[in-house]
Amino acid sequence: MSDDSRNIEQPDMQESRPKTPSRMAEGMAMHRLAETMLPEDVRIFSDPYAVHFINPEILKFAAEHPRKAEQKVREMKNLFPGLGNSIRARVKYFDLVLNECISHDFAQLIILGAGYDTRPYRTPEIDHNFKVFEVDHPETQSVKKEIIRRIFGTLPDNVTYIPLNLETGDLDVALSSSCFSELKKTLVIMEGLIMYLSSDSIHRIFQYFSKECPVGSKILFDYYPESVVSGEKNEYAKNIVKFTQLNGEPLKFGIPDHAERNFMSQWNFADIRIIRSEEYKNLLFTGKNADRSVCDFLSFMEVTI
Ligand SMILES: C[S@@+](CC[C@H](N)C(=O)[O-])C[C@H]1O[C@@H](n2cnc3c(N)ncnc32)[C@H](O)[C@@H]1O
Repeated sequence: MSDDSRNIEQPDMQESRPKTPSRMAEGMAMHRLAETMLPEDVRIFSDPYAVHFINPEILKFAAEHPRKAEQKVREMKNLFPGLGNSIRARVKYFDLVLNECISHDFAQLIILGAGYDTRPYRTPEIDHNFKVFEVDHPETQSVKKEIIRRIFGTLPDNVTYIPLNLETGDLDVALSSSCFSELKKTLVIMEGLIMYLSSDSIHRIFQYFSKECPVGSKILFDYYPESVVSGEKNEYAKNIVKFTQLNGEPLKFGIPDHAERNFMSQWNFADIRIIRSEEYKNLLFTGKNADRSVCDFLSFMEVTI
């Protein structure tokens, strides 16, 4: 592949507030829909609401031109080998951690960069006493709220929507002026988020939760190494860099290669668990799924406060 990513007009990295809803969030919903459409004995999760977050024109195109749609999927798989499966493994793995937390008396879930995450609506274990806080750019969140209202007729009482740019807004002020309780065990999910934030914002976020959440709370997120975000790792990394730039949501942050524990040590977390691609593949893609390859760029981290 030719490296013409350097010729792409670079979006202004200071201007991180999108004027339109996140296309990446829609892309994630597409992965969830595609997984949901697999045969029952193959799919690793089911998301009945994902379809509502996809542009109807795209769904119409796929229904009318299945061959062309399949060709597109093949092209994406060639550009980003295994990444789709890693994204779907991430959904399943994060679902498992959420359920584990709920069964261990966690009372709150904060989803930063929630996009069109449907966990608060499709997780039977989340009842009306379990508080959820969804944070995202106002442009993306307002679309989400409109769609949730359309699906359910109303917004759920237990979900608080916080429209906030995590780069420029104050998460501390936003959460403390909501019904978030600093006394209750909390799971913080950042799924497909930190690669889109500046290093400063990420430091603020970890600093805030390490101080404001009670002991035993968790932060769950995924990340790329620095060499992927810079594109230096290989041609597939360059493809990711280029694709995200073209979609107006450029990658900004990667954790220093092979130095995750050192990077995380600055916040004195009680425990850090790194889940690399090999581990989540072995855990989630077994039996009929054993030949589903994953992308070794994407790792998950489960941090206990
Ligand atoms: C790849 S999408 C992931 C969405 C969702 N977590 C999921 O996995 O389906 C990234 C999300 O992060 C949000 N995001 C990126 N930068 C942000 C910022 N500075 N402030 C708030 N949200 C942000 C985007 O709007 C988008 O919804």
